[in-house]
Amino acid sequence: MKPDVLQLKALSPQLEAGLEAAYTVHRPYRAADPDALIGEVAGKARAVVTGGDLGVPAELWDRLSALEIVAVHGVGLDKVDLDIAAARGVSVTTTPGVLTQDVAELAIGLWLSLSRRMVSADRYVREGRWPRGERLPLARRATGRTVGILGLGQIGRAIAEMATPFAGQIAYHSRRPVEGVPYAYHASPLDLARAVDVLFLVTPGDAGPLVDAAVLEALGPDGLLVNVARGSVVDEAALVAALADGTIAGAGLDVFEDEPNAPAALLAMDNVVLQPHRGSATEEARSAMAALVLENLERHFGR
Ligand code: 8YV
Repeated sequence: MKPDVLQLKALSPQLEAGLEAAYTVHRPYRAADPDALIGEVAGKARAVVTGGDLGVPAELWDRLSALEIVAVHGVGLDKVDLDIAAARGVSVTTTPGVLTQDVAELAIGLWLSLSRRMVSADRYVREGRWPRGERLPLARRATGRTVGILGLGQIGRAIAEMATPFAGQIAYHSRRPVEGVPYAYHASPLDLARAVDVLFLVTPGDAGPLVDAAVLEALGPDGLLVNVARGSVVDEAALVAALADGTIAGAGLDVFEDEPNAPAALLAMDNVVLQPHRGSATEEARSAMAALVLENLERHFGR
């Protein structure tokens, strides 16, 4: 008998086909009545497959009485209650390593496109404003800037390495100093923000809003913020206000507090570059993530 698996969100065709080959897959998000489907399978689903952005909604834990494993397609665990999982003896797996370069790449891309105003210049060309000789503000050089990394984990380090050819200096803040790295450590997000020109956010999403109005003020009117972590890492209302009144120069955002909704106020701003949570959305990363989710399940079920 194939084990029953509850898949909580749409995933790649590769992963969905792999799941179907080995498991009986239930997909409430495609059902006319998702809740009724969950009710039908809650007592027999031995695995949940979900995204890092979705995790396991709190109300599901009590219903999933046969749950043995949560296989996360991603690396973020902020939406999976690890205490409940541990208390229930449920394994939790993620897909580390295979998306590191991809997320770092997007972060660097957001920085460069912000500095060089590439997105607003693209709009300038498309809207026919170039032949009309309209003025387009000059960009700022990225090279030579002091780069700050908030969260020097795998992805933070990859960003630091990719930024090295551009950056003047690189500094970071983590809960603890990381041994053996050539970057300056700052004891708090506030100290780091004061010291840098561009601040990359790469911390787990359950640490609370590490970036508040005071941190944004410390980053300053020439400062750029790039968030590829989670919307919850920033006080989003304070960020919108800081972008509107020039407290900081700009922001590159791949993540938001209430996805898939980006704050309406950002949509009209020229000093932001917005992405729909695309850090790991490359063919290469998603293919490797699919393979790893399947491998994690195979290890558990021995099939
Ligand atoms: C994915 C993510 O977009 O790794 C994470 O935690 O947020 C992303 O890689 C998401 O998990 C897709 O399912």
